[in-house]
This record gives sequence, structure tokens and C-alpha cells, in this order.
Amino acid sequence: MSDKISVCIVGSGNWGSAIAKIVGVNCATLPQFEKCVTMYVYEEMIDGKKLTEIINTTHENVKYLPGHKLPENVVAVPDLIDACKNADILIFVVPHQFIPNFCKTLLGKIKPNAVAISLIKGFDKAEGGGIDLISHIITRHLKIPCSVLMGANLANEVAQGNFCETTIGCQDIKYAKTLRDLFQSQNFRVVVVDDSDAVEVCGALKNIVATGAGFVDGLGLGDNTKAAVIRLGLMEMVRFVDVFYPGSKLSTFFESCGVADLITTCYGGRNRRVAEAFVKTGKTIAELETEMLNGQKLQGPPTAEEVNYMLKNKGLEDKFPLFTAIHKICTNQLKVQDLIDCIRNHPEHMMKTQKSDKSKGGKGGKSAGACVKKPSYKAPTPCCQPKSGDDTQKCKFHTFNYRVTPLKAKNVTFRLVPKGEKKEFAIMNASSNNMYLFNGFRTRCGKGLPLGMRALSGASKPVRALNTGLGVLATFCAYKSAKTNAK
Ligand SMILES: NC(=O)c1ccc[n+]([C@@H]2O[C@H](COP(=O)([O-])OP(=O)(O)OC[C@H]3O[C@@H](n4cnc5c(N)ncnc54)[C@H](O)[C@@H]3O)[C@@H](O)[C@H]2O)c1
Repeated sequence: MSDKISVCIVGSGNWGSAIAKIVGVNCATLPQFEKCVTMYVYEEMIDGKKLTEIINTTHENVKYLPGHKLPENVVAVPDLIDACKNADILIFVVPHQFIPNFCKTLLGKIKPNAVAISLIKGFDKAEGGGIDLISHIITRHLKIPCSVLMGANLANEVAQGNFCETTIGCQDIKYAKTLRDLFQSQNFRVVVVDDSDAVEVCGALKNIVATGAGFVDGLGLGDNTKAAVIRLGLMEMVRFVDVFYPGSKLSTFFESCGVADLITTCYGGRNRRVAEAFVKTGKTIAELETEMLNGQKLQGPPTAEEVNYMLKNKGLEDKFPLFTAIHKICTNQLKVQDLIDCIRNHPEHMMKTQKSDKSKGGKGGKSAGACVKKPSYKAPTPCCQPKSGDDTQKCKFHTFNYRVTPLKAKNVTFRLVPKGEKKEFAIMNASSNNMYLFNGFRTRCGKGLPLGMRALSGASKPVRALNTGLGVLATFCAYKSAKTNAK
């Protein structure tokens, strides 16, 4: 890198424009950065005027981030090579479909010692069956290191300056401080980790889960079902990283790029919104994308397709029933009403008591035969064979639409509050040392909050903690949000 670090933002959509507000201010104020930030803008005509001209005169991206002023040192450039040729840091923030072509255009036209950071959430199909991470494509084509930035960062809220967190997955830790300084602000807090691939995979996969969350909203199934979809989605994300990117850290899922991004996208993002409309209107995803997104791109359905391509090639579709069902619904191979049937006997609903759980940190584990899958769902009867008094207790609860994952964890007590009823009742005694996760009820902590955190500290294995913590936490968030909305 040269003395003053010069920055280019490749992309000017909703997120590209929001991040330009922060990066522009940092480059104008921090001495290590060149003040002028170039921003590649795909040229479009708006009311007879070029978008680049509008941005450079009014300092507003009227199409993708209306109502927000960009710093004046952010300069819109319609030519990709012109925008990038002098940059030491290239921030890639365009829908992932455009990246292969962008790389072809930029090959040999950028500084050889430039570094990249991708804010793009999505994959590309790899030749021969598989997926390519966008950061890997950038590195391979442009021969420069590429870090990633992902987090619970809905662009409009970041542009408003609301507090949030983000995660940078740094390829080479020597760039960590510079990248953090470039993006961090009072209300945009950056955590840098070295688990770059896992950070990026989280950012892409959560859009699939958000599509599923939108289907649940469209079907009107309520917050508990949505929490179950979020939790199962998280577990499939963990499993996916475990299978395809071994060596990644479970702790990465607890950064902003993991749980937090998943929750925000399942409640606030465009994937959720369009998926809900898909159910309610009967229109196709493509029609809704055109009608509802004003030129913005959906990431969930194409990512589901790319993941399915990979799972199918490896014969792993049945290990990822939620991802598979969402892809099939988006491509009209499955009715949206069948979504829940596809996840009713999810691999995550296996027995996970200490005796039967053979899993090692995050592997999901095999059933030790205690939980028997039923071929027919007609009767709401327990699906597991009781082996002890405690198992009998659990089996009373495990029904057609009410899936129970038995766990062992210490020092955790919680109560269940059936939806619509005021009465609380305790279902577990801490001294029994057994904890049951009931996915169908609103859940509240026995002794104050946060329950998820107490569950995490109480469980002895990370995978159990994740299983318990997220399901409870997500349900709790839904509970809080329902209460807030009701006010
Ligand atoms: N919007 C968010 O809240 C948000 C937050 C975090 C991450 N992301 C991720 O950031 C990436 C970019 O999303 P966004 O919201 O900024 O984009 P967007 O969907 O708002 O905008 C589309 C962008 O694509 C460009 N474009 C359209 N047609 C083009 C073409 N033919 N060739 C080249 N460029 C073209 C447009 O100029 C625009 O910059 C995505 O991967 C997204 O998942 C988005």
C-alpha cells in the first residue's frame, strides 16, 4: 500500500451507498486515508439524467438510497476501470451475480499490491459441482487477498446511523487494523476475526433462511414456527460450514455475521418480505423482484439454488431439509404449504442426551436409536421410545407439530408460556439436570434474562449450547417484538 491509502467502492446499490457514508467520513477525517473515495456506479438514466451526475451534484443516490446525503468526497465514476485503477483497497459491494464479469474487466488493470474486501452476501456456482465463495473468486481472478465484512447490517438502518455491529473476516491479519479503521464508526462497531470463510458463508446462507422465514410469515404460522425455522436454519448453516469448510470456529456463529445477521434478516430484510408476498400473492419470485425491489436484487433464492446444486452433487439434500425445501419452493417443485412437513423430522430433532449423543463439537450427531422417525404423521403421538422416567416425561410432549429435542445441561431452568394463555408453568427442575427444548411454545426464563445466555453458559458442549440458546433466544426475541408491537 502507498503512504496514503486510496479507497474505491465497487458498487452503489443500497448497501454500497450506505457504507459509502461511513467510509467517506473516515477517509475525510483519518490521516492514513486518501480523502477522495471513488465509487463505481452502474450508469442508469433517472428522469432523463445520468445517475452518476445526480450523485456528484446532489450527493444523493436517489435510486438506491434516497433521502440520505453521501459525503462530498465520495465521487461517482461510471467506468469500472477508472474507478478502481488507483485504489489500494477495493470494497466490493454489488449483487454477487456481477462479480465474475467485474473480475474479468479488472484483471491486470488494478494495483498489483491492492487488497480487496467483499461485502457481498452470496455464492457463485463452481465448475464441476460446488460453490465458490465470492472472496475466493476475487482472489483467484485478481490475484489479491480478499477479506470479508458481514453482519446484522440492514443498509437503511446503517445509513440512518443506528447502532449496530459487524464482523470482518480478515484473510491476512496484517490488514486487520487498517480495515477496522476504514469501516468503524461510533455507531458501526467492527469485530475482526480470522475465520474469513465461515464469516462469508454465514452472510450468504442466512438469506436462504430468511426466505423460509418469509414463507412462514406468508403462511401466517406465527412467531414460534418462525423461531423454529431460524434455529433449524442456523443448525444447517453450522452443519454446512462443518462439512464444506472444516476447521472453522463455532464461535464465529456468535459474532454479528452469525446469529445477529440471521435474526435481523429473518425479521427485516427484503428476502423475507418478497417470500411473504410470494405466498400471499401467488406471483413468481421473478415477478415480485421486479415489482417490489425497484432494481435491487434478491439473494435468497439464487443462493438456495447454488447451495442445492452443491448438495445434490454430493448427495446431501436430506441432511439439509430446510435449505432443500426452500429451494424447491422457490422453483415451484414443492408447494409452500409443504414446508413444515419437510422439516418436521429434521436431523436436529434427534436425541441429544449425553448417553446417546456421539457428536463432537458441532457435527450434529447421530441418533443412538432412541428417536424413531415415523413414516406417517397422522396421530400426534410421541415419536421416541421412553427409556427412563425422564424420557417418558419428554415423550408426552413430542407430537406432530410440537418437536422436542431433549438435552442435558446444568443450572438451567425455564418455564413455558403457551401462546395465548396467561398461566405460566414450570416444566423442568434444575436439580433434575435435564433440560428440554420445546420448540412450539413461547419460552421465558425462570430467573430473569437473558435466558439464551444462561442456557449457553449452562450447557457443557458448544453444539448443545447453540441448539438451546438460539431456539430460545429467537423465540424470546419474537416474544419481545410481539409485546412491543402490541403496545
Ligand atoms: N442492502 C442491504 O441491506 C445489504 C446489507 C448487507 C449486505 N448486502 C449485500 O451487498 C451486496 C450488494 O447489495 P446492495 O443492496 O448494495 O445492492 P442493490 O440490490 O441495492 O442494488 C443493485 C446494484 O447492482 C447494480 N447493477 C444493476 N444492474 C447491473 C448490471 N447489469 N451490471 C452491474 N451492476 C448492476 C446497481 O447499480 C446497484 O448498484 C449484496 O450481496 C447484498 O446481499 C446488502
